[in-house]
Amino acid sequence: MHVEAHVVALDGPAGSGKSTVARAVASRLGFDYLDTGAMYRAVAFEAIRRGVDPQDAERVGEIAKRMDLEVGERVVVNGADATIEIRGPEVTRAVSSVAAHPKVRSELVLRQREWATGRSGVVMEGRDIATVVFPDAQVKVFLTASEDARADRRSKEMRDRDYSDVAADMVRRDRADSTRAASPLSAAADAIVLDTTALSSDEVVDKVLELARSKWGDVQ
Ligand code: DC
Repeated sequence: MHVEAHVVALDGPAGSGKSTVARAVASRLGFDYLDTGAMYRAVAFEAIRRGVDPQDAERVGEIAKRMDLEVGERVVVNGADATIEIRGPEVTRAVSSVAAHPKVRSELVLRQREWATGRSGVVMEGRDIATVVFPDAQVKVFLTASEDARADRRSKEMRDRDYSDVAADMVRRDRADSTRAASPLSAAADAIVLDTTALSSDEVVDKVLELARSKWGDVQ
């Protein structure tokens, strides 16, 4: 695989601050941003919409292969705007099962690489960007934070849900994401691990930018 683009790979568990940081880093560097979690959520959304069991590897794999998917400001699945629904509790509960199917993963990894082709600089966030999607990325950052800090951030994002529900969902999802057979969540051996528990998002952004500039100079 060849990587022509400047790739910033940002991985980590739920609530580690990836999305906020990835968007800010992309905007500061003038790079394009892709939230790969939204792609797994879109597959889960489509499976639920069609009444397909999220655990059904074969049928969910077919959905991923055939689906027409746009991920940007809005997430559009086979022509339907799913931007709001993909963040809802139903999709959140189903997404770990969907993301564990090797067929779903190989299809989405392919699309993620295609998306980066022809772009000069990209920030991609997910769980396996530095380990699988772009193992040659020059900037690899793995964000972590204490369980409490992560649950706190998540429940602030989901104001309509109870803290203990959000925390329980998050722990369950992290366990599933970290223990699945296909590309489990783990830091790449050459990733910089940043514990964000006591850092503001601006501080994390500055650290990632520092790293990017140490590799590429002033990229913008
Ligand atoms: O980042 P998120 O919470 O929106 O991700 C949704 C789910 O998708 C998460 O449970 C793990 C999975 N995921 C994955 O397996 N690989 C990725 N690159 C991104 C997300």
